[in-house]
Amino acid sequence: MPGPAILADMSSSPLPQASHLRKNARVLVVEDDDAMRDLLVEELSDAGYEILAAANGRAGVDAVLNNAVDLIVTDLRMPDLDGFDLIRDVKATKQAPHIVMITAFGSIETAIKAVKLGAYDYITKPFEFEELLLVIDKALNDRKLHKHIEHLQREVEGKYRFGNIIGESDAMQEVLALVTRVSTSDAYVLVTGESGTGKELIARAIHYGSARSTKPFIAVNLAAVPAQLIESELFGHKKGAFTDAHSDRSGLFQQAEGGTLFLDEIGEMPTALQAKLLRVLQEGEIRPVGANQVEMVDVRVVAATNRDLEEMMSRGEFREDLYYRLNVIDIRLPPLRNRVDDILPIAEHLLRLHADKAGLDTPIVLSSEAQRLLLAYRWPGNVRELQNTIERGIALCQGGCVEVGDLPQAVHERRDINYLATAVARKLSLSELERDFIVLVLDDEGGNKTRTAQRLGLDRKTLYRKLEEIHGEQNK
Ligand SMILES: Nc1ncnc2c1ncn2[C@@H]1O[C@H](COP(=O)(O)OP(=O)(O)OP(=O)(O)O)[C@@H](O)[C@H]1O
Ligand SMILES: [Mg+2]
Repeated sequence: MPGPAILADMSSSPLPQASHLRKNARVLVVEDDDAMRDLLVEELSDAGYEILAAANGRAGVDAVLNNAVDLIVTDLRMPDLDGFDLIRDVKATKQAPHIVMITAFGSIETAIKAVKLGAYDYITKPFEFEELLLVIDKALNDRKLHKHIEHLQREVEGKYRFGNIIGESDAMQEVLALVTRVSTSDAYVLVTGESGTGKELIARAIHYGSARSTKPFIAVNLAAVPAQLIESELFGHKKGAFTDAHSDRSGLFQQAEGGTLFLDEIGEMPTALQAKLLRVLQEGEIRPVGANQVEMVDVRVVAATNRDLEEMMSRGEFREDLYYRLNVIDIRLPPLRNRVDDILPIAEHLLRLHADKAGLDTPIVLSSEAQRLLLAYRWPGNVRELQNTIERGIALCQGGCVEVGDLPQAVHERRDINYLATAVARKLSLSELERDFIVLVLDDEGGNKTRTAQRLGLDRKTLYRKLEEIHGEQNK
């Protein structure tokens, strides 16, 4: 038996890292002929795969149900469930392995039927052993790639799953309820909100929550495309339509066919083009630049802007009819400072994500003082700024706790500008307000209690008593 010789041949295999691939692959051999089965088992084991064997189709299906099998090499003619039945039964299982069918010489119809039923490939008897190894390795490689793509796809979808949009405030709860409702419809949506409030995240959630989720989600930032190119970018162009149009090119509407087109910064759309966009939204048809004919498209449009479109309308910079067409459903994302209840949950969500990624058993925490600064800050950059702040905190912190000193200067400086407003939003009592104030002043005095007492107009004893109360509360 040429075992070692085959192993030596493998180095010239056209598939890279075959030995690694084989070590992690479980191959099931289904063959009723004892001598042939033994031979296959021995050869394939020698080649480096992990091998299971079954003497008939029924036993083969059982083996698939009870083990994680990556690939099956099967004979066609077998008593008790033949190769075709095996393919049918195996293909109905979850994570079905690839199947390579061994067929008799000259029976091309059989081979075609096997592939039609879902076999990955076939090999005709008599065959060289290397030939079989090549087919198996190709199938395993393919499966690995497939799994990888599925994993990436799940990751992308997971990222925009509802669970990853944090919103505990009443305002965000309303937004999320609206998102759920609009996902089931095909209505155009306009998402508005300051920079960094999560407009794109919401647009993606609408897409991935809709029946269009398996079709493309295409995003374009109109502020980033030169005005003279927007039309061809959106609708495509014909060869020769303008100087640089060397060939036909499809636009984003065509690329988003069946899915969702996210028109970010819609306020930047030149007025001349607004009329053309309106026609697309009304008629469902586009005309590529330089084309004589229109094309039908099936695309849901979600638009977003951080500009005040109503004000732009009053100045004649945005078409009223387009506004009402886009704005069938209006999702307004409040700035983060107006939904203080979301600040710590988002921060904690980010810390948990970091822990998952870094393989930490427990997430990094925020000191209570750091939490207070985060709550009091105005967040002009909204959730994106909070994200940057937390990432920075994670990078700087020592000992698993983000302290005040790990937060950027801006968060310190502006902590009191909006403090009273947030105190109202947080429904603080007078004693809680006093507690916060004492802690902030103490921090400002670098922990010096004498100076803190002087500044607060308290005697030292009273300050100590109050601090003890505060600590007692915190340790509760
Ligand atoms: N409610 C939320 N929960 C969790 N993450 C959020 C939330 N809102 C926003 N984010 C995150 O904050 C970042 C900014 O969000 P996004 O890009 O959607 O904002 P935007 O409104 O489109 O901003 P811009 O106007 O600057 O384009 C993203 O990384 C997003 O994942
Ligand atoms: Mg955006």
